[in-house]
Amino acid sequence: MKPSTLRAAIAASVAAIASLAAQAAEPDLAAAEKIYQANCAVCHGVKMEGGFGPSLGDHAWRHGAPTKANLIKVIGEGVPDKQMPRWSTALSASQIALLADLIAANGAGAAKPAVALTPEAKAQRDVPDLSGFKLPKGFHISVYANQVAAARSMVVSDSGIVYVGSRKAGKVYALVPRADKQTADVVTVAEGLENPIGVTLLNGALYVGEISRVIRFDNIDKRYAQKPSYEVVKVSLPNDKWHGEKVIKAGPDGKLYIPVGAPCNVCDVEDTRSAKIYRMNADGSQLEEYARGVRNTVGFAFHPVTKVLWFTDNGRDEMGDNTPSCELNVAPKAGMHFGFPYCHGGVVPDPAFAKGRSCEEFEPPVAKLGPHVAPLGLTFYTGKQFPEAYRNNVYIAEHGSWNRTTKSGYSVRLITLYNSKVVTDTAFIDGFLRGEEVVGRPVDVATLPDGSMIVSDDYGGRVYRVTYDGK
Ligand code: HEC
Repeated sequence: MKPSTLRAAIAASVAAIASLAAQAAEPDLAAAEKIYQANCAVCHGVKMEGGFGPSLGDHAWRHGAPTKANLIKVIGEGVPDKQMPRWSTALSASQIALLADLIAANGAGAAKPAVALTPEAKAQRDVPDLSGFKLPKGFHISVYANQVAAARSMVVSDSGIVYVGSRKAGKVYALVPRADKQTADVVTVAEGLENPIGVTLLNGALYVGEISRVIRFDNIDKRYAQKPSYEVVKVSLPNDKWHGEKVIKAGPDGKLYIPVGAPCNVCDVEDTRSAKIYRMNADGSQLEEYARGVRNTVGFAFHPVTKVLWFTDNGRDEMGDNTPSCELNVAPKAGMHFGFPYCHGGVVPDPAFAKGRSCEEFEPPVAKLGPHVAPLGLTFYTGKQFPEAYRNNVYIAEHGSWNRTTKSGYSVRLITLYNSKVVTDTAFIDGFLRGEEVVGRPVDVATLPDGSMIVSDDYGGRVYRVTYDGK
């Protein structure tokens, strides 16, 4: 928000509070507002939007519902170990009661800031109605962790801690299972990073892919809570901003796989280092090209039996709503070419770049996932909780279209395989799109040690958990 808009918003909300006070003879909210601005705004924000201290206008109350009695108690006693001062020593009982009225009114929406919430902010604030999700019979969805802003790729350690990358939030999180194992606490492992979307584990270390570098946190399961230091891996890769975010994954060969997207919607980058998947040793040495002609892959996984690399690729834009298809690809060996920019979706020659080249020259996708669905992370489910028919198949998080007339994607797909051949492509979780309202955008899929599945959502900023009980 621009400072001028912010000032206008503050003026408007102060005016709203003042007029509210004028209407109600009691309590005197204008007086309360003065006490608030003088003592509390420094930590809770001028509009109670939060800052050093939590927002006093949201629904996530830490000390019980914002009733007058609860508020008087917490303001009076403070939370000394969390740096919320004990106000009973500085303010009178009637001043504290006035503040409680003011906050209760704000929490109830009476003095909500004049600024309307964006759809994304609303999705972050309100957990969607879980009954609006559609899963196969016997499966259930719940929220595993809330307030995981911009949650992107995930990796699960042997001890069940989930590491999550993010995008503009610049953070890497650890989701630490609570005693009930149904939910997790969110711990910030690192912040201020450059779109650290990619995370993977190798030899007990967490590797994080930023736009311009790869960093490594050693012995992470022991150190995640201590704002751990990191080392920069010695490797140099293109760092264009467009399609420059990097997922990263440790392969069964002990190498790190990392892609570099095409820095464009469509362009000829055949002789450059873009539109490729690379692999390297854990220390960054022996960097080599593994696959080429890959426009922008934002997720890959290795088949649990064959150990072969499977990856999604996002199709080009600006050829209309219905073409070309996004891809699911398989790269059993190094050196394969997947067609970009000459051929899209295995069958669509590029209008500008195909120039006498044929789609037959390139590796076709093993599944065409549909235009603009934006397939991101994928995983092979190998857990024991889901029935046999669900195992060793592919689950793909489809982030959803951003530029299609009718939105598509916004779901987790189940691709069933027979001997590594694609048999069916059906919805596993639907309901991130309700009518035209977006309540979440799936980014990655992973399995917890108990065989439940988790799905990250960077739009709502949360991680969901899917369980099976057959009922
Ligand atoms: C030095 C910073 C600071 C100041 C000044 C401050 N607070 Fe707080 N306040 C906090 C922090 C931090 C917390 C969160 C404590 C926790 O995590 O349990 C908090 C918590 C609260 C809560 C509980 C919120 C919840 O989620 O349950 C209320 C209510 C509150 N403050 C009101 C006030 C009022 C009213 C004032 C002014 C008289 C004030 N605070 C001044 C830092 C501050």
